Order: sequence, then structure tokens, then C-alpha cells
Amino acid sequence: MRLTDEERAMLSGEYGPAVAKAMDFLVRYGEAVGAENLLDVNSISIGITGYDRMPRSYGDAGAFNEYFSEIYMDSSETVEIPRVRANSCSILHEMDSRLWQVQGVDERVHDQTEYLEGCCNAIGLAPTFTCAPYLLGYVPLKGEHCAWMESSAVPMCNSVFGGRTNTEGMESGGAAMMTGKIPNWGYHLDENRLGHYLVEVGYDIRTARDWGLAGYYIGGAIQEKIPVYSGVKEFPNLRKLMVCSAAGASSGGIEMFHIVGVTPEANTLEQAFGGRKPLDTLKLGKEELRQAYDALQTATDPNVDFVMLGCPHYSTEDIWRVAMMLEGKHIADHSNLWIFTPDAIKTVADRAGYTAIIEKAGGYVMCDTCPCIAKKVPKGAKIFATDSPKQGHHMHSIMGLPAWYGSTEDCVNAALTGKWKGEF
Ligand code: F3S
Repeated sequence: MRLTDEERAMLSGEYGPAVAKAMDFLVRYGEAVGAENLLDVNSISIGITGYDRMPRSYGDAGAFNEYFSEIYMDSSETVEIPRVRANSCSILHEMDSRLWQVQGVDERVHDQTEYLEGCCNAIGLAPTFTCAPYLLGYVPLKGEHCAWMESSAVPMCNSVFGGRTNTEGMESGGAAMMTGKIPNWGYHLDENRLGHYLVEVGYDIRTARDWGLAGYYIGGAIQEKIPVYSGVKEFPNLRKLMVCSAAGASSGGIEMFHIVGVTPEANTLEQAFGGRKPLDTLKLGKEELRQAYDALQTATDPNVDFVMLGCPHYSTEDIWRVAMMLEGKHIADHSNLWIFTPDAIKTVADRAGYTAIIEKAGGYVMCDTCPCIAKKVPKGAKIFATDSPKQGHHMHSIMGLPAWYGSTEDCVNAALTGKWKGEF
């Protein structure tokens, strides 16, 4: 791989042993995928979790260095982890640092997670703790090279903002954080960003629920290819695009999509395909959305005892909407309503009074985590409802919890009544 003078200096140890190991990792990674060079990156989103994988007791001096060297740097030799060289932020935590007991997190996990956060803060990793870093100012501009890790955020970066990222792992994300470099391959290259499948939208998709179904159906149908949605009548807002991104990355592995007339690299069909012929044309009509809807209803019992909202993490607007639906009401006995967002957004919701309305109704606004990452649900919960195909898909497969999927209104209604009444 072609390296610049600066990159060679990093590799030879001039920037310290950790940077040398990180650069060695990036060179090996780049050569394995056929990259010709490295790119400068200044937007890195990385998950540093795994308290339970720490090689020594979490409180030991040097435990973080040992853990990071082994797990994140593929190194049996422990090196001191330096401060980050590029703008880097954290994806999710394994707990809410205030409501961890409500979540059911035990004290040992709490202490280890706090220790890990302290170590990450010490090296300058911003404690955003969100799968939606763009909600907190990590907004890539068109053409900006990034190194993001979260599967729901990657299609947002590539498709919605026009940034460029592959789905990085914790090792490559860690190396990028220490060097500000990432191999130039995959979605960083123009030719890999063109559409593969034409999706003819024959249904008037307007709601977030239907955008979730669209992403879920198409992800299942084409897996990791790039769909080009054509025929969309209404400009989707941020939440709709977030839900669609997360859904397509759950039933499949979609890292990029185009919506003709909406996303920045698809002003026209011609631009989205770059003059190439689509591999095939898929229909996306009412029947296909219904198939996705039916696949997501893994519950049959209408008695709902857990409603989860905020996957991907809710924005201030999303929290406001739910607060307005709950104002003056109370959730049913034995019902649990957990809404997930990053702490920085909860601060705004607190100051605006939204959190107080939700809490008065019996719900919680939880920060920095989610049930899939924490593997925590309310004690005794048996049936849950969500407005996220991703959460429904993963909670059923990871935690074995049967799910209802529907609109946010359906879910809030289920929390208020304890019954699922949503329909396609
Ligand atoms: Fe985020 Fe957890 Fe959903 S990481 S996208 S809230 S599964």
C-alpha cells in the first residue's frame, strides 16, 4: 500500500508504540482488502464496551491498556493507549448511569462500565453514547470520509448525508481513532456507491412505520446490495430515514441506499446507477409491506408489558411527540415504557419539560444504552412492542422476546392500555 511520509513515521514508531501498532493493523487491513492507500478521517464513531472481557480486574492500573491492546489492537503486548488523534465519539454504553438499577444492571457491571467510561474520557473519546451520532453534531458533509461502526448509522452516513464510510469494526475503529486514517476501499470509492437494484415504489409511503417496513422488506430481499427507491411521493424526514436505515441493516446488511430526488447522490435515476443497468427491478407495494409487517409480528398474545421506543435513539423532536401523546395520561398497571436517547438529548428534554411529562405518565427516558446492547428488559417482561423493526428483529432473536411492531401511536397506546391494538 502507498503510504505518506507521516504514515510511514507512524508505522516506524515515531508517534509512539500504540500508534505504530494501530498503523500496522491498518496496513494489514488495507492490504487484505486491496486498498491502494489510506485516507484521512476526522469522524470516528466507535463502541468501546465489554467490561466482562477485561483480562484483569477492572480497577487494576493498566487494565484498560491491556484490554484495549489485546481486544482492539490485536496485540499480545500491552501498550499505553494515547489520546485520540481524530474527532472520535462513543456508540452505546451497557447501562444508563442514573437508571441502571431500574434497568436491572448489577453493581459489578455498573462499576466496571463506569471505569471503562473514565478510561475512554481520559483518552479524549467523546462520551456521546449513541447509535445516532449525527443527532449530536457528528454530521458528515457530502464526500467526507468517516470511520463509523454502527450498522444503523452507516447507511445514514453514506445515503442521507453523502458521507463515506464502511462498517468498521472495533479494531479498525480503534486504529482510526489513534491515527486519523482508514483504508481507501469499499464505500469510500465512487464506483462502489452506485445502485444495484431498482425498487419501484408502488405504495404511498408516508409514515415512519411504512419506511421501517420498506427498509425491512428490501434488506431481506437484497441483503448487502444498494437499492434505489424510485417513485417516492413525499420527502421523508429524519426519523423515517433513520428507521429505514436501521431496518435494512437488520433484515439484511444494507450500508447504502438511494432515494431518487431525495438522497444527495440520486438527483436522477441515471445518477443513482451511474449509467449501469440495474441487476433487477423489485416491486415495493402494499403486499410487500404487509409481508414485512407480518414477519415482524413475532408476538401473538395482545397483552403487552413492555414498550420500547428510541431505536435508533430518539431525537428531541421524537421525545416531544411522545410526551404530547402521554400528557395527562398514565400507562397501564404492569406496563413498562422505556424511551432511549443519548444523555445530551435527555438534557434538552429535561429542560423543555418533556421528561417530566413522560415520567408523570409512568415512563422512563433512558440514556446512552438500549435493551439489545444492555441485554436488559423490565423484570418479568414477556411481550414487547416497538416502533423499530431493528429492535423487534433483534430483541426477538437475542432475548427471545416476542414483539409487536407498529407506529409510535400504536406503541404508546399499548403502553397506556396494556393491549396491542395495532393493525396493518
Ligand atoms: Fe441503537 Fe440499540 Fe437500536 S444500538 S439502532 S437503539 S438496537
